Order: sequence, then C-alpha cells, then structure tokens
Amino acid sequence: MDSSSKAPIGVFDSGVGGLSVLRAMREQLPNEALLYFGDQAHIPYGPRPMEQIRRFSETITNFLLAHNAKIVVVACNTASAAALKYLRERFPDTQFVGMEPAVKPAAEHTRTGKVGVLATPATFQGELYASVVERFANGVELFQDTCNGLVQQIEQGNLSGVETRRILQDALAPMLEKNIDMVVLGCTHYPFVIPLIREIVGENVRVIDPAPAVARQVERRLEASGTTNRSPRRGSVELFTSGDPKSIKSMLPKLLGEEAEVRHVEWLSDFQIT
Ligand code: DGL
Repeated sequence: MDSSSKAPIGVFDSGVGGLSVLRAMREQLPNEALLYFGDQAHIPYGPRPMEQIRRFSETITNFLLAHNAKIVVVACNTASAAALKYLRERFPDTQFVGMEPAVKPAAEHTRTGKVGVLATPATFQGELYASVVERFANGVELFQDTCNGLVQQIEQGNLSGVETRRILQDALAPMLEKNIDMVVLGCTHYPFVIPLIREIVGENVRVIDPAPAVARQVERRLEASGTTNRSPRRGSVELFTSGDPKSIKSMLPKLLGEEAEVRHVEWLSDFQIT
C-alpha cells in the first residue's frame, strides 16, 4: 500500500455499479486521484458462490495495490458481503472501506415500521447482512427482493426501458402493499435507476442511496491516516475493465457525468491480471 497523499484511491465493483460511489467521491473529494476497476468479465457477482467472489476481490485488490492505491473502496455490496472481512485479514496494512445495506438509517426514520431492501442474493446470504439486521432493524419489518436481471439491464445502459421497469415493479409492488415508507438500495448498481424507482413508489417513500455516506467515510479515513491529497488541482480518474472498454466508456457521461480513459486488462487467472 502506498501511504503518500498523492497516491490514488482504488475502487472496485463487478461492473458499472461502483460508478455511483465513484461519482459521490468525485463530489466529496474532487482533488483525489481515483482508480476504478470494473470486473465485467465476471459480472454478475450476485448469484456466484462466496468463495469465488472472495478470490476475484483478492485479485482486484492486488491489482489496485500494484497501482499504488492508498486505500481500497469495495464499491460493491456483494463483494463486501463475501470478501470484506477476508480482505482485511489478508491485507492487514491496507485500509478498506466497504458497503453494507443502509438498514440503520432506514430503521431510524421509518414511520410505518416497514422497509424494503433491494440487493443481490449473495448480499442477503452473507453474514454482514445478518449482522446489520440484528444490530439495527430494531423490530422494523424488512421486505427483501433480489431484483433478478436488474444488474444486467443497468450494465446495458437500460435505465428506464420496459424490462427494467418490469423488474422494479415486480419487486416494489408487493412491498408497497405492505406499506413500506423506505427503500434501501443494497446494490451499487441501483442508484442509477432511482428516477424509475421514485416513479413507482411515489413521493411518500424515501429511497436511500448510501454512496454519499460512503464518500464521507472515505474522507474521514484519509484524514485519520494523514493521507488526504491537499493539492488544489482536480484529481485524475482512470478506469480499468476486464470486459469491453468501449461499452463502459460510452456510459460514462450518463453514469459518471464526465469522460475518462478506460483500459482493458486481461484476466489471466484468479490471481493474476495484467
Ligand atoms: N454492484 C454490485 C453490488 O453492489 C453487484 C452487482 C452484481 O451482482 O455483480 O452488490
């Protein structure tokens, strides 16, 4: 791990989802250099075995550290659920910031006592989710849905088409019948369909996107370790994908709000990428 303040922040996800976190970090920490890895060769992570997601996460962490990352942001709920604990043990000198479904603020603010949570199967199966529910649900009733196929629609840039709408409608309609007043986005891909979710749930239901809170957490961690970049210049953004760089590049204006260089990296084995 590079501990100099000029070193970049490493960020990863299975695909474009982590760009919702990258976008929030760009706003919160404009002077930091950001390196992003989207593992599009293996997307989706959600239905995969935990052990495999751990191996992918370890390989990507090695890649980001080889590119001098001073901190690693696991901008993926699924990888956080499967691998965050393991990564912290495996790389004891590296700082990690991960994601967990925002059950805590939802449970604190719900008035109906009923909250919807949208996340992938691996996230719901992981110990992290069980522990979040145990610590923070406090008697609030949670309704979960895995939104099968939604991640793939978002990867294709389909943020408001018929199929995307159908998946969300099927997930949210039964929750609305139960009188939820909060929806927790437990997958970093889902903030990109917030306009559609709002259309479906209406204005009385609050939608919780954890990305700004994660960006603030990264800021606190950099401050605490004395590695904040104090340069007055805007930091660079560089992206890597194990898939097709053209596809992610074409989505950047919509998902990130700016252009950036995207490079392909070859996934040679679960412990080696170039
Ligand atoms: N963006 C990821 C998350 O936050 C998961 C998408 C996938 O299934 O690969 O959970």
